[in-house]
Amino acid sequence: MYSYLKPLMFSMSAETAHDVTIDGLSALSRLGLFKLLNQARVSDPYECMGLNFPNRVGLAAGLDKNAVAYEAFAALGFGFVEVGTVTPRPQLGNPKPRLFRVPEHKAIINRMGFNNDGVDAMVPRLARRQFDGILGVNIGKNKDTSAEDAYKDYLECLEKVYPYADYVTVNLSSPNTPGLRDLQFGDALKGLLAELKNAQLRLKGETGRYVPMTIKLAPDMAEEDLIGVANQIVEAGLDGIIATNTTIDRTAIAGHPLENEAGGLSGEVLTTVSQNCAKTLVKALDGKIPLIGVGGICDDDSAEERIKAGADLIQIYSALIYEGPGLIKECAKAVKALRDD
Ligand SMILES: Cc1cc2nc3c(=O)[nH]c(=O)nc-3n(C[C@H](O)[C@H](O)[C@H](O)COP(=O)(O)O)c2cc1C
Repeated sequence: MYSYLKPLMFSMSAETAHDVTIDGLSALSRLGLFKLLNQARVSDPYECMGLNFPNRVGLAAGLDKNAVAYEAFAALGFGFVEVGTVTPRPQLGNPKPRLFRVPEHKAIINRMGFNNDGVDAMVPRLARRQFDGILGVNIGKNKDTSAEDAYKDYLECLEKVYPYADYVTVNLSSPNTPGLRDLQFGDALKGLLAELKNAQLRLKGETGRYVPMTIKLAPDMAEEDLIGVANQIVEAGLDGIIATNTTIDRTAIAGHPLENEAGGLSGEVLTTVSQNCAKTLVKALDGKIPLIGVGGICDDDSAEERIKAGADLIQIYSALIYEGPGLIKECAKAVKALRDD
């Protein structure tokens, strides 16, 4: 099916194709017709962060930023879907064009800049949830919120999505919000993690539910920094790490006409970089908290490799654009087979 759809999608600009896809899947979700998509989810139950995942392959954040199509994505076979990044107030994101395909490398460059409807618009959509998989909500800060006040944005989003999310991801790693990645380091990270942990425990008391929190990291870090950050995250009592977000490094597409487009690069060109980050993190975490591996997972082999490196779960984004939804089953089957071996 996707082999017929792909030429049509690729004849449109990347962002138009994205919007058409999300609008279509959103309509199916709203009408309750998402079951039409049913790809017979691979059953590979896995417990992680106290949650029961139907299988270990998830949709990475950024495709369903506004939580309008997660039911449809789940029906395509994902064991879990992460919506967002959502910010407290709605924002338009960066001027267009801001999304580029790099087909020669099966890659994507994006500088979307957290375009989203805001957390108050997202909450009722989360409340209407019907699907039985795991729903993650990825939270961020508004572009015009200062670094000193960033924690307030994260706390506001956490508080509002907490009753509906199975887990919450704190996104500190988008390259498209100026200063965001600085929150991954030193005292800024320490202060933010302490605020978030306090809020999580308070919300647990209020709701009677413990919602695990993960931190999403960038791949553009020296190995020793990555280890230091991982240690801080464990010490602060967070529940997991998601690695990685997109890279700002352009080595992998050097010489390509789009090389100098600003933004984050993702897709096959990220496989090795994210795989290496996963190995470093797994070693540093030493089983204390789980790792969700993302970045360049594009076929059964790369899915298998990430799990073999020690990731508990994996997520996909860019390869879905190039390979279509059949990839979900391919990866879920490969990961399941590792356990059957
Ligand atoms: C167009 C686009 C938008 C994205 N938006 C977000 C986002 O809002 N929040 C986030 O945490 N990650 C976002 N990401 C990063 C992905 O979730 C993922 O970490 C990254 O693309 C690497 O995985 P991949 O190689 O499978 O695409 C985005 C990626 C793309 C391509």
